[in-house]
Amino acid sequence: MAKIQIGRTELSVNPLGLGTNKIGGYNLFPNLDDEVGKKVIQSAIDHDVELIDTAFMYGLGHSEELIGEVLQKNDRHKVVVATKGAQQVAADGTVTLNNTPEFLTKSVDESLQRLHTDYLDIFYIHFPDQDTPKAEAVGALQRLREAGKLRAIGVSNFNLDQVKEADADGYVDLVENQYNLLQQNAVKELLPYLSEQHISFVPYEPFAAALLTGRYAPDNLPHFEEGDHRLNIDLYKPDQLKANVAKVEQLKPIAATYHATVAQIVLAWYMKNPLIGPVIPGARTPEQLLANVQSEGLQLSDSDYKIIEQIFVSFFENSRQ
Ligand SMILES: NC(=O)c1ccc[n+]([C@@H]2O[C@H](COP(=O)([O-])OP(=O)(O)OC[C@H]3O[C@@H](n4cnc5c(N)ncnc54)[C@H](OP(=O)(O)O)[C@@H]3O)[C@@H](O)[C@H]2O)c1
Repeated sequence: MAKIQIGRTELSVNPLGLGTNKIGGYNLFPNLDDEVGKKVIQSAIDHDVELIDTAFMYGLGHSEELIGEVLQKNDRHKVVVATKGAQQVAADGTVTLNNTPEFLTKSVDESLQRLHTDYLDIFYIHFPDQDTPKAEAVGALQRLREAGKLRAIGVSNFNLDQVKEADADGYVDLVENQYNLLQQNAVKELLPYLSEQHISFVPYEPFAAALLTGRYAPDNLPHFEEGDHRLNIDLYKPDQLKANVAKVEQLKPIAATYHATVAQIVLAWYMKNPLIGPVIPGARTPEQLLANVQSEGLQLSDSDYKIIEQIFVSFFENSRQ
């Protein structure tokens, strides 16, 4: 598949990347295994998955450390490492958001150390804070880019107005926000704007944190262990869950015509969507990673692309047509 250019940079990546909050992210998910996590990273590199998406927040640096260990054994230039920062952790464990130039500069330096590298391909401001002028925060990252410490600048969890403010000087290359077939409304106005401005959009939680993999069914609803953050996601709350699983059920016969899984056709749908940049599904095991990699060879027909789109159009929009 053709590579995707990152924003207005010279950086380009294969469309399928890897999300790593389940690699070292012990503060977000129970029972993670570091050795398995490192195997996922190695399998990704072995299968030409270039974009590896991590963050300080995934294990308070531990995800970056595990990726750093694997990077040291590989050709650094084969990997496009994206990380994020903005969370300041106090001695009592309280987390506050901090986008000041000083804090972001320190965050980049600490990420470089944990990742055992002298440059980051992409650094995102993970969440906006209340007080720092956004163009000032991005300006600090631009200075780090000029110093050779990073190659592309991103913001994450910024709404349209916040993106416009952050990109006042034209330095923002990517926006990473929540987006999947079940959760499209929040970025409806953002996506066309990003496309016009040549800013890449990276959707996070492309499987709605597993609901869109097709592993559930009306008679097999998900049950998560205590400590799994998915227990707090609205899509999984009892009043919404059955309707969401019923929508995903409709993908199963379409997937069968491609001899593919639901997860694979969902990824293929994103990769055919011109408003969407690289996709970063999370994987907990090498097997999940390898299954996801196969979606790169899947070409959805135009009519199936539209049928899938229609399944997930909300009731409100359907009633307006
Ligand atoms: N910028 C932000 O604020 C932000 C927020 C959230 C996430 N992210 C990034 O986005 C990435 C993706 O989001 P996510 O990992 O939370 O959710 P996701 O990609 O929607 O779902 C990942 C989960 O789907 C399941 N899965 C993956 N491949 C599968 C396969 N082939 N077959 C069956 N199940 C499969 C696994 O669930 P199990 O673990 O249950 O096996 C996996 O953990 C993250 O890893 C992270 O890098 C960014």
